[in-house]
Amino acid sequence: MKRSQQLKPGEKILLIIFGVFFLLAMVAYAVLETVRLNADEPMFKQTTHFDFSEEGKKGSSIYQKARCNSCHRALRMGTSMGLILDGIGSKRSLEWIEAFLINPEATYGHETLDHGLPPKEASYAMRMSKEDRRLIAIFLSELRADAGSSVAPAPPPEHSVFIDGMVKAWAPKEWSEKYTDIRDRIKPEEEQVSEEQEVGR
Ligand code: HEC
Repeated sequence: MKRSQQLKPGEKILLIIFGVFFLLAMVAYAVLETVRLNADEPMFKQTTHFDFSEEGKKGSSIYQKARCNSCHRALRMGTSMGLILDGIGSKRSLEWIEAFLINPEATYGHETLDHGLPPKEASYAMRMSKEDRRLIAIFLSELRADAGSSVAPAPPPEHSVFIDGMVKAWAPKEWSEKYTDIRDRIKPEEEQVSEEQEVGR
């Protein structure tokens, strides 16, 4: 004999709680999308940009085919398992990127997680043809970031009370003798790749 199963009170409560959360999420999503679509300005400021050369475009398609996106995020594609590569061209020089792809650990100066010799998962990046590697490196070096964005080494171009305050509050005194302030070294508008990132250092 088959009896229709009644939900226990606890199950009913859980179901109602889940239902309320689900409903709230749907309403919040609808509101967010409505606001976003009707806003005059983008909700989040775009701080990374690119202007690809012919070689950069070729490099981009090699990059897509080489499954780099399975770990990296760039140009709104890929995952965030590895590093986000948007803006990398403002942080690393073309020579650095090429050197990293050939010899990751020596270039990092310490052990790496996925790049390097087999069985590391991204070891195949070392075995690419010289030309493909060069084109990918050119593509990556053309992914730039505005000064002050989270992926740029250069601080915001305007004077920042916040940064001054943090440096004053937290940086030990001897640092001012040991290090130079990056703001004195980099002219943000030039978007230079800082010298520290050159190969071999
Ligand atoms: C299995 C995951 C994975 C795959 C696939 C992968 N990467 Fe990476 N990548 C990483 C991780 C993790 C790091 C950080 C270094 C490390 O620990 O290996 C990294 C670092 C890098 C860096 C240095 C970034 C920096 O600023 O320090 C570059 C450049 C890079 N990857 C390019 C590529 C390219 C090009 C491909 C495709 C040919 C690729 N990666 C495929 C996981 C991956």
